[in-house]
Amino acid sequence: MVTTAAAWTPLELREVSVPNRVWLSPMCQYSTDGSGVPTDWHLGHYISRAVGGAGLVMVECTAIAPEMRTTGRDLGLWSDDQVPGHARLVDAIHSVGAVAAVQLGAAGRKSSHDVPWENRGQRSAVPPERGGWQPIAPSTIPFADLAVPTEMADADAERVVEQFAAATRRAHAAGYDVVELHGANGYLIHTFLSPLANLRGDRWGGALENRMRFPLEVVAAVRAAWPDGKPLLVRMPAADLLEGGLTTDETTVYASRMAAAGVDMIDLASGVLTHDAPRGDEPLHNARFGPQMRASGALVAASGLITEAAHLEAAVPDLVDAVLVGRAMLRDPYWPLRARGLEPRQSWPVQYHRAF
Ligand SMILES: Cc1cc2nc3c(=O)[nH]c(=O)nc-3n(C[C@H](O)[C@H](O)[C@H](O)COP(=O)(O)O)c2cc1C
Repeated sequence: MVTTAAAWTPLELREVSVPNRVWLSPMCQYSTDGSGVPTDWHLGHYISRAVGGAGLVMVECTAIAPEMRTTGRDLGLWSDDQVPGHARLVDAIHSVGAVAAVQLGAAGRKSSHDVPWENRGQRSAVPPERGGWQPIAPSTIPFADLAVPTEMADADAERVVEQFAAATRRAHAAGYDVVELHGANGYLIHTFLSPLANLRGDRWGGALENRMRFPLEVVAAVRAAWPDGKPLLVRMPAADLLEGGLTTDETTVYASRMAAAGVDMIDLASGVLTHDAPRGDEPLHNARFGPQMRASGALVAASGLITEAAHLEAAVPDLVDAVLVGRAMLRDPYWPLRARGLEPRQSWPVQYHRAF
């Protein structure tokens, strides 16, 4: 018999008690009207996943600046005007008992492309004359067919660090319980860390110590802007899985430095530094790095092909402290309730009992 009991126990993160360890992974919906403010789509989408049993609902990558969006339809927290829309979303998630988290991100060289269902999606650049913008990154290496980014100057790096902190203050004002920094998937933080995307010869590049500088400055600024009682997560790859890329030896050091800087939990995700990087095609392909990353002193979570109750049993607590479920919860918002396998009248919302 599959016993997923450990996955349903609460997890304490600073002053936040998460009711279980099966969480919604952040997934862009590309569904704003261009203002970065959550819409009714977001409200319905996220409340459904909270009703479906996710103990923590991670709102998709939310841009810290307009030029750090992937597309013109991304969510944002770069302006105080966006706070009330996020507060409405937070209230909806709380109303059904889930913890509300938001992933803050800067897309860097992966910015200014089409939404997935238009043209070639993430592979088609949107230039300024089509309403896009010029991406910036540590080095002038493009992602796939997107625009060649402009190399960031010191002042750009300092500004982006401050934008992360300002977005964090807005996340607090909106009532989010948890902030996660997007440091994987080839976004800006990941490109500073990876030797394949960061070819700089100044204090931001070269040796690991220099490549970690920007990510650690972001963490320091965000931790200072975020209340002590609220947990901070960082999404990161366990490795680039590419020749000459980040190794697990490097990411283990990085995770320890993150933990020392006040990161409570490492969220392992695939690197996807380049469009042809391996994404992992086996269940638990990121969670398997959990035990190694626990040596950092931080708690560890992971996403990546967790699609069956048996995967929960294998993952929690042996490999990781919590899992984030992505595509399985796009297909079925009630995935956690089904995976738990209790008698429906014990676990499903009372409003749905007559269905069973
Ligand atoms: C539609 C879609 C949007 C995504 N958007 C994000 C995102 O905003 N931030 C992020 O870190 N990962 C994003 N991801 C990656 C997922 O969070 C997750 O890590 C990945 O899909 C692997 O987990 P899974 O096998 O359970 O889907 C996205 C994935 C999908 C399918």
